[in-house]
Amino acid sequence: MTRLSVNINKVATLRNARGGNVPDVVKVALDCESFGADGITVHPRPDERHIRKSDVYNLRPLLHTEFNIEGYPSPEFIDLVLKVKPHQVTLVPDSPSQLTSNCGWDTKTHLEFLSEVLDAFNNAGIRTSVFVGADAGMIEYAAKAGADRVELYTEPYASAYTANREAAVAPFIEAAKVARSLGLGLNAGHDLSLVNLNYFYKNIPWLDEVSIGHALISDALYLGLQRTIQEYKNCLK
Ligand code: PXP
Repeated sequence: MTRLSVNINKVATLRNARGGNVPDVVKVALDCESFGADGITVHPRPDERHIRKSDVYNLRPLLHTEFNIEGYPSPEFIDLVLKVKPHQVTLVPDSPSQLTSNCGWDTKTHLEFLSEVLDAFNNAGIRTSVFVGADAGMIEYAAKAGADRVELYTEPYASAYTANREAAVAPFIEAAKVARSLGLGLNAGHDLSLVNLNYFYKNIPWLDEVSIGHALISDALYLGLQRTIQEYKNCLK
């Protein structure tokens, strides 16, 4: 089974636009769960421009499904994750000012740093995932660093999908095979949508989890959150 983790950052962005508590991020997360989401993902950034530290603390005791916290492992981020103890932490190499993640880790160059950080999370019993491109070498070094899983950065797949979906998915199938041969779990995310998700899943059915935010929350404006989540779940069949 491939799990759907809903990234609720966009909901926090909407809330922050007015300064109050509408929409209520915690309520939306709980509703996502009751509508069938298998997990909730948040990406707290240092400037708190969407998810705030307080959201992370508020969500933790209330969620019934898997909680995934993603972000750059700054000392503050590491401290937050170790205090909150989510089910999974996903390490992303983005700088504080970045609009959104736009590449995976160079796990070879950052092997020592990643090994230290992963060690801390592994010792705390938190499952670890490292965000990487569809590149065998980067996946091998993620395994060397001690990751439990890799999350494949799927933006290149999504942007090439319309022109030639077979060619778009090919490097991801190869990368997924490398991850499997190394005993790593496999997640995927970024720019996955109702258009491209099912084809990705059909080609890599052993995916453990997809984490989806932007397209899913945008679709919910038209379809409503409940139907949207059901439609994304249907893409994983
Ligand atoms: N995975 C990671 C590591 C991300 O940084 C993001 C964006 O926050 C996502 C998945 C979700 O991407 P999208 O919002 O395009 O679905």
